[in-house]
Amino acid sequence: MNETVQRLIYYSRNRISGSPGELADAIRNILAASRRNNAQMGVTGALMFNAGCFAQVLEGPSAAVEVIFERIQRDERHGDATVLGFGPAAGRSFDRWSMAFVGTSIDDVARYDGVATETGYDPSRMTGGALFGSLHRLVLEEEAAASANLGFVTPSPAAAPPSLSCLLRARTAPLHRRIEALLRLPGAVRDRDGYIAWLGRILGCYEPLERSLVLFPEWEALGVAVPSRWHTRCLVSDLAGLGAEPDDVPRMQIQMVPDLPTFAHALGALYVLEGATLGGSVILRDLEARIGSAIAGATSFFGGRGDAVGPMWRSFQAALDGFGREQPQRRPDVVIGGERTFQAMLDWFSPFCAAAGDRP
Ligand SMILES: Cc1cc2nc3c(=O)[nH]c(=O)nc-3n(C[C@H](O)[C@H](O)[C@H](O)COP(=O)(O)O)c2cc1C
Repeated sequence: MNETVQRLIYYSRNRISGSPGELADAIRNILAASRRNNAQMGVTGALMFNAGCFAQVLEGPSAAVEVIFERIQRDERHGDATVLGFGPAAGRSFDRWSMAFVGTSIDDVARYDGVATETGYDPSRMTGGALFGSLHRLVLEEEAAASANLGFVTPSPAAAPPSLSCLLRARTAPLHRRIEALLRLPGAVRDRDGYIAWLGRILGCYEPLERSLVLFPEWEALGVAVPSRWHTRCLVSDLAGLGAEPDDVPRMQIQMVPDLPTFAHALGALYVLEGATLGGSVILRDLEARIGSAIAGATSFFGGRGDAVGPMWRSFQAALDGFGREQPQRRPDVVIGGERTFQAMLDWFSPFCAAAGDRP
């Protein structure tokens, strides 16, 4: 499968103090975490430490690179991170390293002196391209030295392909952002009537979706207890609890229901529904603070899973990732199922949100 690779290049100032041994330990810890996390998320790259600066290249799916870089920026072991380049790349340049490392050894100092002579090795004066080129060359040199058993290369196992859940998150991120911007939950729910209208609209899309998901017999083999039409049952009970009539609510017409021809597509659709539960408790907390008494006893859709939300999501994610490992050729269909589901939701909620926006 062709993947879109984003490459990010930055440098930062070291904030680790202490003896050379302590510094080396700190860098070893950084590398261990990098290799563990990056391999899991399909990110590859290289890290260099020299003359009080770190320089790093990260490459991989856009969302994964962004998540990792956000975490890195919060790390107090360095500061003043300056991005020299971020954008699509034709492919991976460090595809054999979840995080190659060059630096810190005595031999390396000589090598870096070379870089320093060439460039003044002041990263703030280097372009992204130059820094990237230097890092790439150094890593290749280190690899050659290591294969001759001469140098200090620290190879790490090649990055595993991203897990299916990571791939789904990355590939559906733009649609996810669009739906969040469209729905504007929880703020868009202003009062009890608005809440009823929202539950009805959600039911109108979730019920036909869940109906189409239960048609697949493969869920049990995957170890997924869903879809037992859980969302539909919660929505119906919440609406009934508020005195509304769930049967009166318009449902998506068949041509709007996402086309999910195979179980892999259905799995992508369930990823969207299950993922949505993660935001439910946050939405509910806000609603309870503003209109809690008006909706009391009718909050099972947003909050019904209570503390089980996290464990249920993780067990679904494990099943999803297992499917991705065992049937890699079906991963693209899972992504398509997820994309179609987000798109169907956008189509379904757009007129509703436009009308809600018009209401006083
Ligand atoms: C210069 C520098 C580079 C880092 N690079 C990475 C990286 O590529 N991947 C990563 O996961 N963490 C990286 N880290 C570490 C993260 O900031 C963070 O400590 C780590 O991701 C936490 O992972 P853990 O929760 O698995 O321990 C880097 C930290 C520093 C200071």
